[in-house]
Amino acid sequence: MTEIAKKPIKITETILRDAHQSLIATRMTTEQMLPIVEKLDQVGYHSLECWGGATFDASLRFLKEDPWDRLRKIRDKAKNTKLQMLFRGQNILGYRPYGDDVVEYFVQKSIANGIDIIRIFDCLNDLRNLETAVKAANKEKGHAQVALSYTLGDAYTLEYWTNIAKEIENMGADSICIKDMAGLLLPYTATELVTALKETVKIPIQLHTHYTSGVGSMTYLKAVEAGVDVIDCAMSPFALGTSQPATEVMVETFKGTPYDTGYDTKLLEEIADYFRPLRDEALESGLLNPKNMGVNIKTLIYQVPGGMLSNLTSQLKDLHAEDKYYEVLEEVPRVRQDFGECPLVTPSSQIVGSQAVMNIVGGERYKMVTKESKDLLSGHYGKTVKPFNPEVQKKCIGDAEVITCRPADLVPNELETLETEMAQYKEQDEDVLTYALFPQVAIDFFKYRDAQKTKMDATVADTENGAYPV
Ligand code: CO
Repeated sequence: MTEIAKKPIKITETILRDAHQSLIATRMTTEQMLPIVEKLDQVGYHSLECWGGATFDASLRFLKEDPWDRLRKIRDKAKNTKLQMLFRGQNILGYRPYGDDVVEYFVQKSIANGIDIIRIFDCLNDLRNLETAVKAANKEKGHAQVALSYTLGDAYTLEYWTNIAKEIENMGADSICIKDMAGLLLPYTATELVTALKETVKIPIQLHTHYTSGVGSMTYLKAVEAGVDVIDCAMSPFALGTSQPATEVMVETFKGTPYDTGYDTKLLEEIADYFRPLRDEALESGLLNPKNMGVNIKTLIYQVPGGMLSNLTSQLKDLHAEDKYYEVLEEVPRVRQDFGECPLVTPSSQIVGSQAVMNIVGGERYKMVTKESKDLLSGHYGKTVKPFNPEVQKKCIGDAEVITCRPADLVPNELETLETEMAQYKEQDEDVLTYALFPQVAIDFFKYRDAQKTKMDATVADTENGAYPV
């Protein structure tokens, strides 16, 4: 066994992305972020995660903000710290596989607007779905981090994880992230996993977890002792619960040890002071639900991510079938087995969750089948670790063709078509990408942006008329 080097642990701060995505439905605004970015920039973080995941969609849909503009403004104020984003492989930040030209252009524009590190994952861990994005990040001189969607199950042995890590290193990734979206990685398992990965690959290993099941900080402690290079934490006002372990807690934990971050406690305190009123406000308005802040042990028992639990609750509520909650929870792992024991992360978590609801509420398994379930079972999301249940597959898709190629090979280049479709709204190059990801939401936003401008022009004209009476 190789001796583990004891070195200062690095931290990725998630307060501007995952923390508010996990706790307050991604509703933190650019205006709320900007006043504190310069202080965040002084901490010395490994990186500041600030983009990707749901931030793009929520900015446009709910906050009426241009996500590209947010990125540029954060970049302006964060002069020293690397900016990081989350990227759903061939799905970019959306829910369908895109043509390679769109993926490449999105990576290019993300880096041009200020992103340094792109964390790329696939919900099935099918590396073919990551190739284009990784290559594009390499080409643009960005840091390509490939994330393993962490999950449990017979197929997910240490050998599985080390084999896939080796492949990721060979495909040109700059680092690997263990992405534990559900908080399933237990402390002693973390020791085994991190040790095995460190013995297998040379590139740095980062760990991302959620506090949902209550073990997050202990898992980080064991992972750091086993030699993990970077951990993802959130400043305390938006930490714990369905978010990440708290930054300040981890910094204090390692103080005076070889893992000492060297971060300035006073500075962290000032940053926490800034975010605390935002937390209080969110609690008061109901945006921050105290239910998301405690330990949810069901996530460990049913191996279901926190976000998926709340989705299931709201789906059942819509169907007036809230009494079926536990039946659905027990159906989730069965559907997951039928669907090749896939990890549960966007979009597979939604696909498996919705199908489990239908199987129970419909009274018969796979009597009603979603389009997404059919797509998954016909290979359109990629290859699962285990084969699909053949009977279920037959019942759901009949004799429809099953593909085994890289799904994006069937998606033609589409940038030109997209450009034509949205040409009348275009104000910046990036707009076509916004449109590609969320066509309807983007058009609503472009119209809103236009209306705002007309309004502003009118105000300026009024003021001018008032100042200079004619
Ligand atoms: Co996360």
